[in-house]
Amino acid sequence: MSVSTDLQLDPFALARELSGKHFFGGDFRPASSGKGFPVVNPATGETVAEAAFGEAADVDAAVAAAKAAQKEWAKRPVRERGKLVAECGRVLDAHKEEIAKLIALETGKALRTESRIEAGVLSDAFVFFGGLAPELKGETVPFNPNMLTMTVREPVGVVGAIIPWNVPLLLMALKIAPAMVAGNAVVVKSAEEAPLAVLRVVQLINTVIPAGVVNILSGYGPECGAPLVAHKDVKKVTFTGSVETGKIVYKTAAEKLIPVTLELGGKSPMIVCGDADLEQAIAGAIAGMRFTRQGQSCTASSRIFVHDSIHDAFVEKLKEKVNAMKMGDPLDESTDIGTIVSPQQLDRVQSYIAIGKEGGATPHVCSAMPSDAKLGKGLYVQPHIFTGVKNSDRIAQEEIFGPVCCVIRWTDYEEVIAQANDTEYGLAATIWTRDLKLAMDAVHRLEAGFVQVNQNLVVQPNLSYGGVKSSGLGKEASLEAMLEHFTHKKTIIINMK
Ligand code: NAI
Ligand code: MG
Repeated sequence: MSVSTDLQLDPFALARELSGKHFFGGDFRPASSGKGFPVVNPATGETVAEAAFGEAADVDAAVAAAKAAQKEWAKRPVRERGKLVAECGRVLDAHKEEIAKLIALETGKALRTESRIEAGVLSDAFVFFGGLAPELKGETVPFNPNMLTMTVREPVGVVGAIIPWNVPLLLMALKIAPAMVAGNAVVVKSAEEAPLAVLRVVQLINTVIPAGVVNILSGYGPECGAPLVAHKDVKKVTFTGSVETGKIVYKTAAEKLIPVTLELGGKSPMIVCGDADLEQAIAGAIAGMRFTRQGQSCTASSRIFVHDSIHDAFVEKLKEKVNAMKMGDPLDESTDIGTIVSPQQLDRVQSYIAIGKEGGATPHVCSAMPSDAKLGKGLYVQPHIFTGVKNSDRIAQEEIFGPVCCVIRWTDYEEVIAQANDTEYGLAATIWTRDLKLAMDAVHRLEAGFVQVNQNLVVQPNLSYGGVKSSGLGKEASLEAMLEHFTHKKTIIINMK
C-alpha cells in the first residue's frame, strides 16, 4: 500500500494514491471491511478519491498500535521527543505546497487565500510544541522537612483526537503536537469531508517519529468516531466540532471517567463603536467573518454590532469590499472565495438564508457566482450580509457556518454588551474603538474565551484558545494546553528519615 513521500504537486494524482487507506502502526492499512466512501471535489462534484471506511475493528487495531508504541515513546528523554516533533514541522514545511493543493481540492477552500495559509502555518505548531518539551516540569512542594515531596508530569497514554473539516490540518496539529511531546500516542479520526491532506501529514511525520505514535483513521462519526471515544484503552479525548456531537462525546467519556477537551461552535460578536477606525474595522469584519473560507469558522464574527452613527457607511464599505472578492475554482490563483464543503452544509447555509429573509432582515448579496461551466455543480453560495437583524433572530443566535453575517445596529453601550453576551456561545469577541477605557471595560465584560481589541486574529501557537458556555471546555494551542490536557500530575513523597 505504499505511497511515495516525494513531492507530489498534482493533487488529483495524490488523492488517487491516498485512496482506500488508513495509516497506523507506521504504515498504510486498508479498511478491515474493504469498504470505502467517496471524497468529492466540492467545486465540480467529481469523486477524487475513495477513503477507507473506518469501523470498530479498525479502531481496535489502531489503538492497539498506539498502545504498543506509547510506553517506549514516553521513555525517551523529553528533549529528544521535542526535537523529533520539531523535525516533523520541518518535513511538513518542505511539503506545504503539495498539502495546500490537496486541502483545496477536498474542501473547496481557495488555494491563495486559505489553503496555502493553513498549510504554511502547520509546521509552526510542531516547531512550537517541540520547543516546549523542557517545560514538562514538576514542582517540589514544602510539606515536611523529613520528606521530599514533588510532582511529576506523566502522559495520559493513548489519546483519541476527533477533528472537523474546516481547518483540519491546523486543528489536528494543535492536538497531536502537544500530545506527542508530552509522551502520549494518538489515534486521529479525520472528518469524512476532508480525510486526505491530514492522512498525507500523518504519513510524512511518520518518516520522523517511531511507528504507532501517531495514527489516523478515516470514517464517519457513529461508525468510527464513537468507537474511538468508547475504546477502553483511549484515556483522553480531544474533540473539535459541533455542540451536538461534543455532548455525545462528553457523555461517552463520562461513562469511562476520562478527561476531554471540547472546542465547539460560536456566534462571536464584533462591536464597532462610533469612534472606530472605519477602514480597520471593515478589514477586521472581512477577516473575522472568514469570507475567504465561506464563513466556515467556529470563531467567525458572525454578529457585527455597528454603532448607529457609522452603521450605513460601514455597511456600504463592507459590501463594496466583499463585492470585489472573486468566487471561483479553489485551485485557481485568482480565486478569493471557494466553495462550501459538502451538500449537507450547503443545504444548511441556504436554509438559514431563507430563515433570515422570512424573519424580515434585509439580505445584501455580494460578489458573483463563478461563470465557468465546469463549476456548474460547485457548492457555491454568495456572501450574504443581513441588515435589520435583531440579536434575538434565529440567524443571530444559531451557528450558520457559512458566508452569512448579521449586522445589528446599536446606540446604547450597556445594551450592546448585554446583547453581545446574550448567546448560548462564548468562543471569541472583538471590540473596535479608540477609547482605551471603554475597550478595557468591554474586554472584562464580554463572555468569551478569546477577546481582541481593534483586530481579529485567528488562533495562534502560545496563546490559550478555547471557549466558555456552549463553546467548549479546556484550552488548546498553548503550554497550559499541553500540561493540563495531555498529562497527569503525580505527587511523590519520599520519606528520608
Ligand atoms: P460534527 O461535530 O458532527 O463533526 C465533527 C467531527 O466529529 C467529525 O470528524 C465527525 O465525523 C465526528 N463525529 C460525528 N459524530 C460523532 C460521534 N457520534 N462520535 C464521535 N465523533 C463523531 O460536525 P459536522 O456535522 O461536520 O458539522 C455540523 C455543524 O457543526 C456545522 O455546521 C458547524 O456549525 C459545526 N462545526 C463546528 C466546528 C468547529 O470548528 N467548532 C467544526 C465543524 C462543524
Ligand atoms: Mg455531524
